[in-house]
Amino acid sequence: MNPVLSEKRLLARLESARMIGGDPAGGITRPFGSVAEREIRQWFLAEAEAAGLRTRLDGAGNLWALFPGAEENILAAGSHLDTVSQGGAYDGALGALMALEAVETLKDTGYHPQHTLAVLVLTGEEPNAFRLSTLGSRLLTGMLSLDDIRDITDDSGYSVWQALAEAGATLNSHDLLPHIPLKGFVEPHIEQGPRLKEMGQPLAVVTRITGIVRHRIVIQGEANHAGTTPWLQRRDAVQGFAQIVAAFKALIDGHLDQLTGTVGYVRVYPNAVNIIPSTVEFIVEWRSPDQTVLTAVSEEYWDMVQQLGNQRGLGITRQVILNQAPSPMDATTQRLLQQMIASEGLEPIALESWAGHDAAHLARKVPTGMLFIRSNGKSHCSDEDCDAQDIVLGSRVLTAFLRQWDQMVLGRRPSC
Ligand code: GLV
Ligand code: MN
Ligand code: MN
Repeated sequence: MNPVLSEKRLLARLESARMIGGDPAGGITRPFGSVAEREIRQWFLAEAEAAGLRTRLDGAGNLWALFPGAEENILAAGSHLDTVSQGGAYDGALGALMALEAVETLKDTGYHPQHTLAVLVLTGEEPNAFRLSTLGSRLLTGMLSLDDIRDITDDSGYSVWQALAEAGATLNSHDLLPHIPLKGFVEPHIEQGPRLKEMGQPLAVVTRITGIVRHRIVIQGEANHAGTTPWLQRRDAVQGFAQIVAAFKALIDGHLDQLTGTVGYVRVYPNAVNIIPSTVEFIVEWRSPDQTVLTAVSEEYWDMVQQLGNQRGLGITRQVILNQAPSPMDATTQRLLQQMIASEGLEPIALESWAGHDAAHLARKVPTGMLFIRSNGKSHCSDEDCDAQDIVLGSRVLTAFLRQWDQMVLGRRPSC
């Protein structure tokens, strides 16, 4: 029989988390390093300790809440507690609090785990002022080293090392993998897209997490008087940008089944009504679960951008700020999650994730899986929503999964 979790406690915790970082303009703004993010980290540690779990912070400030087992080897479940600007209440927090509920339930029902079970809250998953998304998982897994980020600051000169130290990170590489005996990770997460809603299904198992490429491109023209400069003598960076962004849309339209892309960050200089824009800085992002498509299309675009720049006499430079390969989820972990979904009488749906997750990095080091919970199809905005019934169902599946995962010797077939 599956242990009975406390629906009331889980929903009350989600409500408490929602209250931290409310943005007067709408939604929740809780980026890494902010007062609100510090507050939710403290709140989470207090909740975990009150639940009887042992808490500790690692070299990257990731929060661990441990339910000690017969051995030190750890199986962890969790997600993140930071948010995008004016984000929703579920992206990250849902997975972290579902994991807390699952581990607490197993503990309270007298389960004696073989492995140490952990709730893992990863530091700074979302883009932040330091331009370092999935910070905690990349540091934990060695995709980034503490030395790599030593000199990185936000625009005001505040260093990421200082922000990590203030969050309680030990900044010691011996408090990261492989020194932490982590043997597996599962991330429950709101689906964030409309696919489960459209299928009428509450849960899915993730097969692979999209690859993401981000290029920061600067278009350099020339500032001049907005009235007196003859039209044909202008080197207007915004006019160039308009053509470059139209070419981006045309390229995406030609590959709709294989990739998607966004220009979500644009800055114009000097940004004045009566000065021809000298400079446009923008970040173009490509996503695809297929590495070959991702590389081919993003490089084709870069060739087009350079040609368009040349035609208009504009200088073009590029900096690759992210090049993250698609990340397949562990096959055994997927199978076990599917079995747990099926044992609730549900169809075990398999989906690719078009959102990035910390699980993409963990998967490169330990067997990793993801469980999706149906959303209303909105995310990274204040309208994000998730049904309480689906949350409870997902938590039940997660709890049963953790118990079963703990009992099977990793690398062998599940015993169920
Ligand atoms: C993570 O939130 C992403 O950008 O997909
Ligand atoms: Mn997100
Ligand atoms: Mn997330």
